[in-house]
Amino acid sequence: MIYLDNGATSFPKPPGVSEAVARALANPASPGRSGHKPALEASRIVFRARKKLAGILGKADPERMVFTPNITWALNAAIKGIPLEKGAEVISTALEHNSTARPLRELEKAGAIVWKKIHPRENGLIEAADLLPLLSPRTKLLVLNHASNVTGALTPVEKMRRLCPDVPLILDAAQTAGAYPLEDFARHADVVCLTGHKGLLGPTGTGGLWIRPGVDVRPLAVGGSGSNSESLEHPDFLPDALEAGTLNTHGLAGLAAALDYLEERGIENIRRHELDLAGVLLGEAEGISGLRILGPSGNLENRVATVSVTLEGYSSSDLSSALESGYGIMTRAGLHCAPLAHEASGTFPGGATRFSFGPFNTPEDALAAAAALRELSGKRRAV
Ligand SMILES: Cc1ncc(COP(=O)(O)O)c(C=O)c1O
Repeated sequence: MIYLDNGATSFPKPPGVSEAVARALANPASPGRSGHKPALEASRIVFRARKKLAGILGKADPERMVFTPNITWALNAAIKGIPLEKGAEVISTALEHNSTARPLRELEKAGAIVWKKIHPRENGLIEAADLLPLLSPRTKLLVLNHASNVTGALTPVEKMRRLCPDVPLILDAAQTAGAYPLEDFARHADVVCLTGHKGLLGPTGTGGLWIRPGVDVRPLAVGGSGSNSESLEHPDFLPDALEAGTLNTHGLAGLAAALDYLEERGIENIRRHELDLAGVLLGEAEGISGLRILGPSGNLENRVATVSVTLEGYSSSDLSSALESGYGIMTRAGLHCAPLAHEASGTFPGGATRFSFGPFNTPEDALAAAAALRELSGKRRAV
């Protein structure tokens, strides 16, 4: 199998991850609850993961790193939890994943917000300058996809921040955390949302949000927190305020082991490796008859290692199936939970076929993908 679906979830996980999960599962305790030794060990596991994840963002305040089951929950928590006055204007890119688009649409439909979108230019890139005409005194929130999970295009977060430094900024780092050095960008965000199972190389069921001091995020859910148990009011301090219910201790143990691997290998090295692979595929794919590559062309620095394509004569799912059955190549077809990005790319509703590289892929994988596309192009038929 050649696994090129790391944008959906990364595979394989680094050495040590499943062992860490198994060890934590064997520990019969709940973190932050009882005071016996296994419970203290569970709390230590959670704290270690918290400290490491905050560390990846360059943050020295792990208590502001809140765990959630995934980034969908984190984005919902931030978008719905930051208090906004009725009619507040919220700006996002037109490349957002449904994890951002659906909460914004819900608020828009309820009449709570006015939602404005920045469209990518012809070259597939979001230009910071296109934010300017959308800004107004009523702009109260910016929600930005750091990299599109469809086109791989990176959003110029830093430049956009400079245009409206006082507007709270939520960053969806699903496709960049672990695959792109985040410290610089995390500096420009008020809330950074993460998922543990993609570039961070951890198990599914892990994720979180880091919240800048001074930013108020109200809880989506309240309940048991292991703290302030005498009160019927949920605690208002982080991380407890946003972590109602027992955490995924074994998942977080696996995530911490994955973060050890990322530290050892170096995120910048992983970025270089993955971009090289994307470069191989993009270079080899050039000139394949009927092939269209979505998103930015040319400078690889504008993207992450996600390459979506359409091939004349194939629907996106037929192409994905042909890659799997004929070549053992795993990709993802369709709309990638991001209909807006496909609308912006002119590939709605048919979608595209997405190749997404990870740290364990090799140049041979990229060459095999290009060779398969070339051969399938030769066998083209009318859809
Ligand atoms: C940009 C982006 N945001 C959000 C998500 C949602 O991730 P999760 O399912 O882990 O919540 C994804 C996953 O595909 C994504 O690519």
